[in-house]
Amino acid sequence: MDAVKDAVFRALRAVKYPGYSRDIVSFGLVHGVLVEGTTARIGLVIGHLPPAVQQAIGQAVTSAALAVPGVEQVSLQVGKPAQPPAQAGGAPQREPVAGLRHIVAVASGKGGVGKSTVAVNLAVALAQQGLRVGLVDADIHGPNLPRMLGLQSLPELEGGRLQPAVAYGVKVMSMAFLARDGSPVIWRGPMIDKAIRQFFHDVDWGELDMMIVDLPPGTGDAQLSLVQRIPLDGAVIVSTPQGVAWDDALKGLKMFQQMRVPVLGLIENMSYFDCPNCGQHHDIFGSGGAQAEAEKLGLPVLAALPLDPAVRVGGDEGRPAVLDPASRVGQAMRQAARGLSAALAVVAPGLAPA
Ligand SMILES: Nc1ncnc2c1ncn2[C@@H]1O[C@H](COP(=O)(O)OP(=O)(O)OP(=O)(O)O)[C@@H](O)[C@H]1O
Ligand SMILES: [Mg+2]
Repeated sequence: MDAVKDAVFRALRAVKYPGYSRDIVSFGLVHGVLVEGTTARIGLVIGHLPPAVQQAIGQAVTSAALAVPGVEQVSLQVGKPAQPPAQAGGAPQREPVAGLRHIVAVASGKGGVGKSTVAVNLAVALAQQGLRVGLVDADIHGPNLPRMLGLQSLPELEGGRLQPAVAYGVKVMSMAFLARDGSPVIWRGPMIDKAIRQFFHDVDWGELDMMIVDLPPGTGDAQLSLVQRIPLDGAVIVSTPQGVAWDDALKGLKMFQQMRVPVLGLIENMSYFDCPNCGQHHDIFGSGGAQAEAEKLGLPVLAALPLDPAVRVGGDEGRPAVLDPASRVGQAMRQAARGLSAALAVVAPGLAPA
């Protein structure tokens, strides 16, 4: 029976979202498949989509499943994303956060690939496009977003509530504000868990269209508990182009898929270097890694960012590269921000860029 179930699942991976080249599984719209006898029961998270789209997906799913040998009937169960999927026994519940419309994580299984750089520039690009944006630094042990945004401290408490710092139109919270002497934060799992919950629930964020979460590297317990705790609408995976970097990034991607958090797209960082002196284009770490991986996974590449010393300088000086309207990185990040909004509009509609 498992073989039939797997075959149905594979068939669903070939069903494209109407008008998109991405399949419905990669959008996180397939909740589960159960095969009983010759009946395939398929759970679809499409109840929030326009009726015509629901109908088109329903028909395509039914035909795809009926084409699988061993399947004679198909039963569709349609739900909405607001009903969170059942979680593994004992897993902490995701608590919705009042006022936050969408929450998106920037992640990778690998360290040092530019997650924080991407999170900061993406957040500023989204704010430039007129959205109300927040940024949470979920890297409790190595928080560096405040530096990348030129921020030093939080504003005064208001009504006993923590106020986020604000840079370039983005509201920011980080452990760096709370452990300001620069000493490393040596915290264990449950304390990290509590700190992250406080970042979401005890900070006076007001109303936000988009909250970007910069995750620490890896796929360990800390990441898992974050992903379990935070009601994420989706994740963006960052990698550099080398094959080994992609292997690690893909571990991160699998973690989100297991937790039923849709992966909205890939960003390839340090993708190439255009030499300002000789004018030549260099693919330092190889090229096309993201495109090839993305095609295999049916995911969009939201951006390929060049290796550019201005990015590092901007990070160190607290002036994100996206602020320079002419820079290639700026253009790529603005395009990534638009791609992110488009992908979110499918999995979690309601985002209305001004
Ligand atoms: N496209 C780029 N061009 C030049 N420098 C870059 C680029 N992207 C990132 N960097 C630099 O590389 C370093 C690592 O980037 P960053 O801190 O964003 O990575 P990270 O994945 O968040 O790391 P960690 O895993 O430690 O959280 C930083 O000094 C940053 O300025
Ligand atoms: Mg980082």
